[in-house]
Amino acid sequence: MNRVVVLGVSLKFEGRDIISVKDFSRKEIDYILKISQAMEPLATKGSDMLKGKILATLFYEPSTRTRLSFEAAMHKLGGSAIGFAEAEIASVKKGENLADTIRVVENYADVIALRHPLEGAARLAAEFSKVPIMNGGSGAGEHPTQALLDLYTIMKEKGKISGLKIALAGDLRYGRTVHSLAYALSLYNIELYLVSPELLRMRREVLETIREKIPVTTRTSLEKVVSQVDVLYVTRIQKERFPDPAEYAKIKGSCKITLETLNRAKEDLIILHPLPRVDEISAEVDGTSYARYFQQVWNGIVVRMTLLALILGAIK
Ligand code: NCD
Repeated sequence: MNRVVVLGVSLKFEGRDIISVKDFSRKEIDYILKISQAMEPLATKGSDMLKGKILATLFYEPSTRTRLSFEAAMHKLGGSAIGFAEAEIASVKKGENLADTIRVVENYADVIALRHPLEGAARLAAEFSKVPIMNGGSGAGEHPTQALLDLYTIMKEKGKISGLKIALAGDLRYGRTVHSLAYALSLYNIELYLVSPELLRMRREVLETIREKIPVTTRTSLEKVVSQVDVLYVTRIQKERFPDPAEYAKIKGSCKITLETLNRAKEDLIILHPLPRVDEISAEVDGTSYARYFQQVWNGIVVRMTLLALILGAIK
């Protein structure tokens, strides 16, 4: 099976950039989730759907999962991947700006996945690029492909998204995954709990947008929330994005999920985390039925295969 065709829906993905989750409608996101389900067997056995196509991964910030899963997804679809993960060794070091780098790399690749410390970088790159740009994380702003794989994980684990009570916990201010995920979840009929220290509360622009669509409760502690929710999405405190190290020192280690935290959790609670984890989920939780963060990693391959196939027109 080289092509996955789902009849009855005509949405256009070919040639599109993926910069923000906000660029996608509920119908489009549902379609991505549906295609991902059909893509699942190909993630195991492979395909030649994207034979001859090249992905460039330009990563100006550290990454393990996002870059490797983009590249693995491309290989699994029969394509190949080029790029750099260490901007220090690329011509960036010689002073080349992002726009010029994009105008060069578009000659070598059919699609570019970009991670950059500046929030507007992916949008800027898309303005210059002839080939589609996939945002693999833009500063503290957004991480749309992560949000899509998070939604897919929730759908796969819970069989639905609407009707759930979902908590996002940890660094809601600087964490880009929770910004994208909050926007995406606000398209569904869910109840959202935002749990963070005061200093790391959800950015106002995100909060204002999602509050118009879904009920949102903000809390500074998980205590009263943990027994309420079906999904607990935990994030790392983004130490590298703090303007002042003294601020980080104040809240370091303030969010930690242990077996004790989960005492009153629903039996079928699932815990997700975009990873990397530092100390916000203790290792003793890994062996419980709640922990789904390593399954979530696999879903990253599946969803990125879907996105590459859609953007490059192998699936209509
Ligand atoms: C996240 C990121 O880079 O934003 N990681 C990821 O892509 N899975 C989360 C983080 O760094 O904490």
